[in-house]
Amino acid sequence: MTKSILFVCLGNICRSPAAEGVLRAKSRERDMKLFIESAGTGAWHVGDPPDARMIKAAAQRGYDISHQRARKVELSDFHTFDYLLAMDLANQTDLLSIGPPKRTCDIRLFLDFAEGEERETPDPYYGGVDGFAQVLDLIEKGAEGFLDHLEDESE
Ligand code: 4NP
Repeated sequence: MTKSILFVCLGNICRSPAAEGVLRAKSRERDMKLFIESAGTGAWHVGDPPDARMIKAAAQRGYDISHQRARKVELSDFHTFDYLLAMDLANQTDLLSIGPPKRTCDIRLFLDFAEGEERETPDPYYGGVDGFAQVLDLIEKGAEGFLDHLEDESE
């Protein structure tokens, strides 16, 4: 069955839309059919495209995320998706507290699927341009690790 994945960060304009675009591209490379979206725990940017700096950094690596639009996490997401993948610990804690006690999704830290020490994808919003490339490095590692996990699981 097609697995569904929702990436979650705070604003849904930097980290989680990038993760959505990267996982979509990498899953296609592996011929894996997935349903992938992203959302934010905050509502400040609902309806907005991703941050222009992230659109540019992603495009430099061949990922077009310009068509994506921000939305807020909804209660139905806790039943619709198989995985809610949090970009940092605060996002994960927020999901655990707003989610209904009975839920069918797995709420995980995205980088726990990546090789490496980092567990959190740092928020690049208030930083410099380098922060966006560093976030994409982490997301690309996380995406490969997560797809390996799904492949292992389906064997
Ligand atoms: P994101 O970054 O969670 O990676 O989308 C942020 C974007 C905007 C804000 C915070 C984080 N904000 O406070 O507006």
